[in-house]
Amino acid sequence: MPIPPHDDRQAAAPTYRTDEDSNPPARPSSPRPGPLRRPVDMDVIRPARLEELKPLNHLITESARVLSTGFYSARQIEALIRHVFGVDTQLILDGTYHVIERGGDLVACGGWSHRRTLFGGDQAKAGGDPDLDPRTEAARIRAFFVHPTAARQGLGGRLLSHCESEARGAGFARLELMATLPGEPFYRTAGYEPLERIRHPLPDVPPVELVRMGRSLSERGVVTPTTEAS
Ligand SMILES: CC(C)(COP(=O)(O)OP(=O)(O)OC[C@H]1O[C@@H](n2cnc3c(N)ncnc32)[C@H](O)[C@@H]1OP(=O)(O)O)[C@@H](O)C(=O)NCCC(=O)NCCS
Repeated sequence: MPIPPHDDRQAAAPTYRTDEDSNPPARPSSPRPGPLRRPVDMDVIRPARLEELKPLNHLITESARVLSTGFYSARQIEALIRHVFGVDTQLILDGTYHVIERGGDLVACGGWSHRRTLFGGDQAKAGGDPDLDPRTEAARIRAFFVHPTAARQGLGGRLLSHCESEARGAGFARLELMATLPGEPFYRTAGYEPLERIRHPLPDVPPVELVRMGRSLSERGVVTPTTEAS
């Protein structure tokens, strides 16, 4: 996937070494308020639009490059951006992928799905994506990314609650997701529990650790173990 051109309104990404697969660089300290910071009441949650694919994938790239540092090596992050991270257009068509807009900028994106795919953008999909049965299967939480200058301002949590209530409204009693390592503490805070740790293979880099997580929608924090295949 080509990396979108730099947008001057957004923070510059740091430079990356390419030789630290086994020694990820130190994690950055807590993000400081950046130029996109605005009063929270200016933030609007709305469904993502098809014509926003390019800015959305740009947001995802910026988020992944900065906020994954220290959890994965620079080469693993670039491989994740190329092969895994990105918008699943089907969710936009379904109306279940959302953005938070702040003063005309997209500062966060994330969605939920009533379809089987658990993670990955368009480039990772092959074949159909059948509907899940809300009576027996868990809806999916998909592709949450917050711009680094807007991290730790509650945007991810707000978007997650929005998706959870939509999934509940569609009749689902459980949610599952595949978390990145930087995403794991965020989802734990929201009541999700780890169900399985996997090492996801990617070309030319060591496998990346991902965590399948889940929670019940009926009682916050209570997870019913799943038997379905992901
Ligand atoms: C994971 C992510 C979406 C969280 O978004 P966010 O808007 O920064 O999260 P919130 O501000 O809503 O955080 C809510 C709570 O989650 C926890 N949390 C979030 N990020 C955390 C982190 N890096 N380390 C520890 N706890 C964290 C905290 O308890 C936080 O509350 P606090 O800030 O009052 O302490 C964001 O960090 C991100 O985009 N990461 C890179 C992309 C990625 O890996 N996405 C996950 C894909 S599965």
